[in-house]
Order: sequence, then C-alpha cells, then structure tokens
Amino acid sequence: MSGAPRVLLVGAGAVGQVFGKYLQAAGCELSFLVKEKYAEEARRGYPLYELGLFSRRPRPVLFSGFGVRVSAREVAAERWDQVWLCVSSTALRDGNWVGELARATGDATWVMLQPALDDRDWLLQWVPEERLVSGMIPFLSFHAPLKPGDPLEGPGTAFWMPPMSRGLFSGPPERLQGVLRPLRAGGYPASRSEDVARAAAIPTAVLTVFINELESAGWSFDRFRERAHLERLQGAAREAVQIAARHTRTSASAVLPLLRPAFFKVLLAVASRVAPIDLETYLRVHFTKVGAQTRLMMRTYIDLGRTQEQPVQALQASVHGA
Ligand SMILES: NC(=O)c1ccc[n+]([C@@H]2O[C@H](COP(=O)([O-])OP(=O)(O)OC[C@H]3O[C@@H](n4cnc5c(N)ncnc54)[C@H](OP(=O)(O)O)[C@@H]3O)[C@@H](O)[C@H]2O)c1
Repeated sequence: MSGAPRVLLVGAGAVGQVFGKYLQAAGCELSFLVKEKYAEEARRGYPLYELGLFSRRPRPVLFSGFGVRVSAREVAAERWDQVWLCVSSTALRDGNWVGELARATGDATWVMLQPALDDRDWLLQWVPEERLVSGMIPFLSFHAPLKPGDPLEGPGTAFWMPPMSRGLFSGPPERLQGVLRPLRAGGYPASRSEDVARAAAIPTAVLTVFINELESAGWSFDRFRERAHLERLQGAAREAVQIAARHTRTSASAVLPLLRPAFFKVLLAVASRVAPIDLETYLRVHFTKVGAQTRLMMRTYIDLGRTQEQPVQALQASVHGA
C-alpha cells in the first residue's frame, strides 16, 4: 500500500459517518457506498454534532469531501485498501451484495462491526480470515433531533464517545495495523484486542436481552423496572450469556452472579446519569430502527443454544410474538 489508504465505507448512516469523520481526519481517501436513494444527501455532506459531558449543545461541523458510490460496478472500477461494513447484521444478509462487493474489491482488508454472534462466520463465506478485521463500536450515534424540541441546531448526525472508551479491533497483525494506524491518527480511541468476538460476546448478549425486554416494556424505563420484566430479563440474560460464552470459548462464571434485577436497575441509573442525551428516547429510536437485528440476534442465541443443548426456555419466553 502506498500513499493515503483508500477506504470504502458501506452505509453512510449514524455509524458510517462517525468512522468516516475519524478516517478522513487521518488523511484517508474516503468514499461511501450508499443506496441510490441516499446519494444526493451524501453528496451534500452531513452536519455532525459531537456531544460531550460538557457540550450538550455543540455546533454542527459539515462532514464532506468524500466520494459517493452507488453500485458494486462503480466500486470495481477503482482500487481499495479497506472496506468497512457500517450496516446492521440484517442488512448484511439482505440479498447477495456482500459477495458481489467482495469480488469487486480485490485484496482489500474488510472491517466488520456487526454484533450478531454468527456474523463473522457468515462473512467468512466471502472474505478470507487473512483479510478480515473485526471491531466493536463504543460510541452512541443517531440521526438528530431525537425528538421535537431537542437542543441541537438542526438535523444532522450526533454522536457521543463516552470518556475512556476503547474501540477494540482484532485481526491478522498487518491488516489490523493498517486499520489502527489511521484511526489513532484521526483521534479515534482504537485499541488492539486479542479477539473482539470473544471480548464482545458477553456484553453484547446482556445488551441484546436487555433491549428485547425494554421493548416489551414499551421502551419505558419505569415499566422496565417492574419486577416481572426484571425477572424475565434475568432468566434470558443468564441463558444468552452462557450460550455466547460457549460459542466463543470464554467463561461466563464471573458475570453470572451479577445478572440480578438490582444489577440491571443500577446499570440503567448510571447510564442515564452519565449520557449527555435522553437515553430512554435514544434507546427507543435506535433500537426501533435496528429492531429486525435484535430479533435476528435473539433467534441466533436460541438456535445456538439448542445446538449446544443448553437451556433456552427463558429466551424463548421473552422473544416478541413467542
Ligand atoms: N448508532 C449507534 O449508536 C450504534 C452503536 C453501536 C452499534 N451500532 C450498530 O451499527 C450498525 C449500523 O447502525 P447505524 O446506527 O449506523 O444504522 P443506520 O443509521 O441505519 O445506518 C446504516 C445505513 O446503511 C444503509 N445500508 C443498508 N444496507 C446497505 C447496503 N447494502 N449498501 C449500502 N448501504 C446500506 C442503510 O440504509 P436503510 O436506511 O435503507 O436501511 C442505512 O442508511 C448496526 O448493527 C447497529 O446495531 C450502532
């Protein structure tokens, strides 16, 4: 690789824009692959709001100066060093575009950020392990305003990087360096992990069943704190965590004793206090947007649990429409 890395970000939504901002700050030559319906908006650029504990009303900065591509055919006409998948786990499986894109991008490093337990195995059908870097997302980002009367100046994408966040990535050493170097140069808190899939498996399992139960509570924190919801969550969390641990060959023993109603209540109280946004609204809006992904992830825990011959009754009872 010579000169600035040429990076293609697939999906210019809340996550793609944030990674794009950091990669551009490091001097990467950036393009987005977007659906045709979003191309015009992308060409105008995106107002970005960076939220902080002491900047709840930041001014927008226009994020622009990147290329916009709308098809694998356009992509195939150029050389790419990296392809970043900034779409949901469900979007990955929607049609056969991943295979087409893999054929169109030669020897590029692929960066996956998806949360479902079997996403990596699924992607390995098209992208060899020697070129696949995995990452997890430590920030919150959303299309602002979240609700009428929000303090931001106008529409745009807002994001919050919690203090002391670490954006973990793992993969083959040389490919991984090619990802970590520009991210760090652009000011992103990128860290190397032995294995992101293992590091993320248990926190992701807890978050997924939590979101699933919050949805059952109508996205209301008050209703979520009722005993019936907390107890159902406790059962589902214990099952999901054990399935995720078995799948990634990690141990759940340190986490299992924590998974009690009081723990979920404290977690919610702390998160609501620290986040510089209305967390209840963010969770409703964001996880309604990616609702199909939550259902896919719940089904994945149940299917893997059955294969592992582990209990899945609580998970089944908490799935919507079960
Ligand atoms: N935002 C956060 O705070 C956050 C935090 C942690 C993890 N994540 C995870 O990050 C992933 C992306 O989330 P997001 O918030 O960025 O979602 P988003 O705002 O919906 O962005 C994804 C974008 O990609 C587009 N897209 C889907 N398939 C595509 C394809 N084949 N080619 C090009 N574009 C495509 C989507 O189009 P449509 O609008 O037509 O679907 C959408 O514009 C999800 O897995 C989410 O769970 C997000």
